[in-house]
Amino acid sequence: MAMPAAAQTTITIERDSEIGTIQPEVYGQFLEHLGTQLYGGLWVGEDSDIPNTDGIRDDVFAALQKLKVPVIRWPGGCYADLYHWRDGVGERTPRVNLAWGGTAEPNTFGTHEFFNLAERLGAKTYLNVNLGSGTVNEAADWLEYITGNGQTALAQERRANGRTAPWKIDYLSIGNETWGCGGRMRPAYYADLYAHWASFMTVDGEKPVMIVAGAHDGNPEFSDEVLDHPMIGEVSKGISLHYYTLPTSDWSRKGAATGFPESEWASTLERTLRMDGLIASSIAMIDSHEKLPDDYGLYIDEWGTWFDETKGRSSLWQENTIRDGVVAALNLNIFHKYADRVPMTNIAQMVNVLQAMILVDGERMTLTPTYHVFEMYVPFQNAQSLRVAMDSPTYSNGKISVPALSASAGRMKDGRLAIALVNADPAAAHAIAIPRKAGERAAGRILSGDAMDSRNTATAPDAVAPRQATIRQDGNRFTAVLPARSVSVWIVG
Ligand code: AHR
Repeated sequence: MAMPAAAQTTITIERDSEIGTIQPEVYGQFLEHLGTQLYGGLWVGEDSDIPNTDGIRDDVFAALQKLKVPVIRWPGGCYADLYHWRDGVGERTPRVNLAWGGTAEPNTFGTHEFFNLAERLGAKTYLNVNLGSGTVNEAADWLEYITGNGQTALAQERRANGRTAPWKIDYLSIGNETWGCGGRMRPAYYADLYAHWASFMTVDGEKPVMIVAGAHDGNPEFSDEVLDHPMIGEVSKGISLHYYTLPTSDWSRKGAATGFPESEWASTLERTLRMDGLIASSIAMIDSHEKLPDDYGLYIDEWGTWFDETKGRSSLWQENTIRDGVVAALNLNIFHKYADRVPMTNIAQMVNVLQAMILVDGERMTLTPTYHVFEMYVPFQNAQSLRVAMDSPTYSNGKISVPALSASAGRMKDGRLAIALVNADPAAAHAIAIPRKAGERAAGRILSGDAMDSRNTATAPDAVAPRQATIRQDGNRFTAVLPARSVSVWIVG
């Protein structure tokens, strides 16, 4: 193991500085019809030899349960603006997935399968309706089919298809990336369409939280102009933002998921840490629109790593290493810092796509380092986010210099503290100290990798898995050495 740098970094948890409650939805997931996420991944169908319940793989479901998945966004992404809900209820209509390579889309996973999955997991639902190639009438009918409680034809049709009680739509967006795959619209045109459609998105029961589709990291003016619409604050509770971490910043050569040089570890860190400034500038932009209510939110409904595609694999399938685990933890620490303004995020995506929790290959299921980070961070769901102060050592490579350490803290409902500690330095361990109150004890787990691209495989499924952390209770301080490339979560009480 690399020796720690001589200096010890003191990390101070400002215990009286409450930022806001970390909404469980900050740990949200994204489930798009893409590659082998559903067919060949989560969904095998009832007739499969792979153990399943109502077509959902039992092993994947059990793994997801441990994450306490708070919300799932479905059916896209770009796919949302091609999705016609009638293809996926009753007698299914096979299609091809025109958003993602023209692959077969049997539509065996549809409305009933999605809402039943969410219900079984205890997750909230985030529906993205088709603005790009659908009609307002089609979307309104879908909402009635899902939520109708009366004797309407659509509610009766749902009952005839096997579901008596209505489901709840917790979050609703109209269109996705409307500046791009969702229709290449100008912002004022989209804002008009959004406000028009939102007026007809009636549900039976509690209204969903309405989210207007916003910019990515490179076109903030799109969101700014959408928010210029004089009635946008009446028809939406917040705006979305998409931000992906590419090691190279270059969409034509993003960088490899494994076997990458240290320079791409460094550039990945540098790019992912931009999330902090992006949130700050997005909030400032929201606040500059005086007509919007004070609690107007920023919903980061797509984020995560995006690498070059792996030859011989389905669309957007990529390996997941300890670098992804570190990226996940750095972003989650940033989201905690903005707990008062970022009510939901959705990592892209859940199974076999981009920064996935789970990789599935035939009968085999592998939990990724990102999965383990999400599982370790569960105590932060519903915790009160607290400010953290430290003077981090710097990690440098070439022209890039970033803080080596990152931390966040939350007070759990039972009064104990959850503390997350990341050492993003790929080579050096760092010693830390955290002030301790009399009588307090700390226990924790740590995730680390032997190399920059350590990952879990069929032959070594637990190569990157949490183990017990070594924490010294040292008078009025807790001390520890954080190994290179590591994520720790401590519980203090
Ligand atoms: O997550 C993959 C794709 O990335 C989504 O479909 C789209 O919204 C974004 O460009």
